[in-house]
Amino acid sequence: MGEKITLSVIKADVGGFVGHSTVHSELLETAKQELAKSKELVDFFVGSVGDDINLIMTHKKGVDSEDIHQLAWNTFLACTETAKKLKLYGAGQDLLSDAFSGNVKGMGPGVAEMEFEERKSEPVIVFMADKTEPGAWNLPLYKIFADPFNTIGLVIDPKMHQGFKFEVQDLIHNKKVTFNCPEEIYDMLVFIGAPGHYCIKSVHTKDGEIAAVSSTQRLNLTAGRYVGKDDPVCIVRCQSGLPAVGEVLEPFANPHLVSGWMRGSHTGPLMPVAMKDASPSRFDGPPRVVALGFQLAEGKLVGPQDFFADVGFNKARDLANDVANYLRRLGPFEPHRLHLDEMEYTTMPDVMKKLKDRFQDI
Ligand code: F6R
Ligand code: MG
Ligand code: MG
Repeated sequence: MGEKITLSVIKADVGGFVGHSTVHSELLETAKQELAKSKELVDFFVGSVGDDINLIMTHKKGVDSEDIHQLAWNTFLACTETAKKLKLYGAGQDLLSDAFSGNVKGMGPGVAEMEFEERKSEPVIVFMADKTEPGAWNLPLYKIFADPFNTIGLVIDPKMHQGFKFEVQDLIHNKKVTFNCPEEIYDMLVFIGAPGHYCIKSVHTKDGEIAAVSSTQRLNLTAGRYVGKDDPVCIVRCQSGLPAVGEVLEPFANPHLVSGWMRGSHTGPLMPVAMKDASPSRFDGPPRVVALGFQLAEGKLVGPQDFFADVGFNKARDLANDVANYLRRLGPFEPHRLHLDEMEYTTMPDVMKKLKDRFQDI
């Protein structure tokens, strides 16, 4: 057995430029300088989508390493200082505590990490989204690992034919359950079809090899007040008995509807874009997803390949814009506006209080 490598993606919004639209280049510079000082990392890449900084790091310390989480935390603190200096919007917004307590989980940042033995060739894709929530990965992960209409490998690759295991988390009650697929897809769909409540946390092969992992932090639940949507990340390993790169990207050719967008309170299409186009502006959106491909070479991140820059996703973007136009015409009406239970901001309690004496029994 070779030495294992850990791929950690830790992200946070510590200040937007302008408003909540992008990350200022000085913040990315600060992040790079901080990570470059580390002796623990094998390699790193600093990515961004919308107003979120994504620290993509490789190391040998395993998942939930205090050292790596501390490094990410300190990096976000340094970026916050830069953001404050530039008076960027919402400087430090995702750092919910003053003191680091050993793990960034529950402290604001989103985390997806996996540890594995690097294969002879190790292609991975890091997905990063803005203006949406962790459940946004449910539909694509289902398609990638359980839907033969998306992933032909499930049908014709003998190494994939037996299917995959999905860990699903109940984010409201903090419970988890594992489904064997394809045997239990109908049971699983009952849950993952409600992505605001149930999230796919990870996917493993039937032999227990890690294939995908997502961030499932719900900042708004963590913070107990609105501090922004949870703008999730997801890592997927590809090829040689796992879905091919093209099978992993394919679900994003049909921009599915996700929760988020303006004020975290709307339904909108998840638009696949290149990193340079990941600046949500229209109605603070529409929600974006970037896919960065890397080949790992002894932990070195060879890349990125900015997959959604491909003209093959032009029609997906056109469709997302058409869907956005259609939904925007609904204004403050559901289902464009989220159902009351899911709204991140709501004036309902105050309006209710004001009108309470005017409501009469029918
Ligand atoms: C959504 C988001 C933005 C803000 C909106 C209002 O996740 O970040 O749509 O909710 O721009 O922001 P504030 O309340 O900071 O003025
Ligand atoms: Mg923001
Ligand atoms: Mg964001």
